[in-house]
Amino acid sequence: MSNYHIKHLEEYYQVYRKSIREPENFWEEIAEEHFVWRKKWNSVLEWDFKIPEVKWFSGAKLNITENCIDRHLATRGDKTAILFEPNDPKEAAEHISYTELSKRVNQFANVLKDKGIQKGDRVCIYVPMIPELAIATLACARIGAIHSVVFAGFSAVALATRINDSDCKMVITSDGSYRGAKIIDLKGIVDEALEHCPGVSTVLVAKRIHSEIYMKEGRDQWLQPLLDTASNVCEAEIMDAEDPLFILYTSGSTGTPKGMVHTTAGYMVYTAYTFKNAFQYKENDVYWCTADIGWITGHSYIVYGPLANGATTLLFEGVPSYPDFGRFWEIVEKHKVSQFYTAPTAIRALAKHGTEVVDAYDLSSLKVLGSVGEPINEEAWHWYNDNIGKKKSPIIDTWWQTETGGMMITPIPYVTPTKPTYATLPFIGIQPAIVDEKGNELSGNQVEGRLCIKFPWPSIARTIWGNHQRYKETYFSAYKNMYFTGDGALRDEVGYYRITGRVDDVIIVSGHNLGTAPIEDAINEHPAVAESAIVGFPHDIKGSALYGYITLKDIGESRSQDNLRKEINQLITDRIGPIAKLDKIQFSEGLPKTRSGKIMRRILRKIACNEMDNLGDVSTLLNPEVVQSIIDNRL
Ligand code: WT7
Repeated sequence: MSNYHIKHLEEYYQVYRKSIREPENFWEEIAEEHFVWRKKWNSVLEWDFKIPEVKWFSGAKLNITENCIDRHLATRGDKTAILFEPNDPKEAAEHISYTELSKRVNQFANVLKDKGIQKGDRVCIYVPMIPELAIATLACARIGAIHSVVFAGFSAVALATRINDSDCKMVITSDGSYRGAKIIDLKGIVDEALEHCPGVSTVLVAKRIHSEIYMKEGRDQWLQPLLDTASNVCEAEIMDAEDPLFILYTSGSTGTPKGMVHTTAGYMVYTAYTFKNAFQYKENDVYWCTADIGWITGHSYIVYGPLANGATTLLFEGVPSYPDFGRFWEIVEKHKVSQFYTAPTAIRALAKHGTEVVDAYDLSSLKVLGSVGEPINEEAWHWYNDNIGKKKSPIIDTWWQTETGGMMITPIPYVTPTKPTYATLPFIGIQPAIVDEKGNELSGNQVEGRLCIKFPWPSIARTIWGNHQRYKETYFSAYKNMYFTGDGALRDEVGYYRITGRVDDVIIVSGHNLGTAPIEDAINEHPAVAESAIVGFPHDIKGSALYGYITLKDIGESRSQDNLRKEINQLITDRIGPIAKLDKIQFSEGLPKTRSGKIMRRILRKIACNEMDNLGDVSTLLNPEVVQSIIDNRL
């Protein structure tokens, strides 16, 4: 019996139990029935979290692009694989069929080979959200080159650090990029970065902006003329199951970014399987994830997971606010999007602008709404549910990480009953554990602690590029024989999980453990509040006290700030208890955010603790300018 597509709750429990009792049999069946292999594995799983080492489908041979492209050609050749929606709504959308994708990936792969790229070489891809980004990624995979996609919003310094860390030989970029009303000089950033990257000998430049740019003799080449003369047939390189597929950098709480290494077979199997079930994808659906391919969400759920299922995946170049705040919903209507996957930060930003721009569009094609990247607060959840899903599209709050490769805890829509702010149940094959500070696993329900995973799953990152020791220390040293996620979580009375935030954000006030997420939830319920972030700062009597940074909505009426402070603390008292009241509340125009939209609490914590000379590098923030104004208005 195939367990590939789960359709109701009993089936979930039954398949889940099987995946835990006989993980090897379970994953072997999935791998055997739903993917194409050049050679089958010798063993399904070998692992030891002490070394640490994890190998899935050892000995198997395959190429992921044969699974994502070639095998669909006979049955889905004319089906749209990638649906490109440009930044400018007046520019026509582009439908790239599976047949065309195959040709373009093969041409690109031949260009890479022609430029001397071989299996195992690292190629840096610094390209905006245009089709070439997905195609370059797949072209690397076609010839066994390891791609390292760097989000095309990172600075030259950040780019150079990443290029050098993994010794990339080549950079693929574009002459520039469109982001809303802005044009970004991407090639200029690459030129600046490459002054510090002696290992890069070739830069391939896609044309998007059609501007005059500097091309360095002997190093830089326009991509299109090379593609035009390349053959559209390229034999897939036969890869071992455990050959690296890509490196993707993620920031650690300290130190340089960590180059997480994902390998081929396990990553493919797990991202494809989660995609199918978490989105309940059906053959004629149009699926849209608004993330950038520069993040793991884009790797797993714009490129590999959807294409492995023969899906139509929408790739959007622009931003939610251009030309106005209705753009997302305009696209949903225009392309009849069935599954929509975004981040809470986007939902909150859009909610701030009211429902008029939502109600102008027909959203009846939507069947599933997804959330990812941070805890979704209660107010945002309800806004999303009421106004976008019209209370009939389940919201999947998907918890996972760059390191996990795929979704770990998530409802399966139409299968798992949802609950606001809860990621609900572990996905098939995932064995979470909640442990206390000493590392004892807390059994039963109604427990809260640190979230670990007890057993390997197919898409776990295998190492940190060039630093296996750091991999071991970061993920496998805190708790014996478990992968430590760095997050806190609770399991409620029915066994549902709620992620309470990074454990480094937990604040102990008068001996009480307080998660920042529930306090922020309470604050965000206040009608005047747009967003909030809580950090701890030293306090004589309590040990730590709470400092809240709050941005307000642009609502018409003006209230006194002191009254607002009282109302907010009353809300917290009502929702959590007086223990969670804030000692200081600072209203600010914005909160410092990473390029992926996460609030940088580390910076806010330093400001609250009066450690302004020790803020670290703020230049890679989305909005570095807010930092000074927060410092200037510090309480
Ligand atoms: C961290 C991982 C997952 C891909 C994008 C982010 C937080 C992620 C949720 C969620 C609460 C979440 C966690 C996690 N996080 N999803 N649904 N609910 N928190 O990947 O940049 O590697 O970040 O994001 O704290 O550890 P990432």
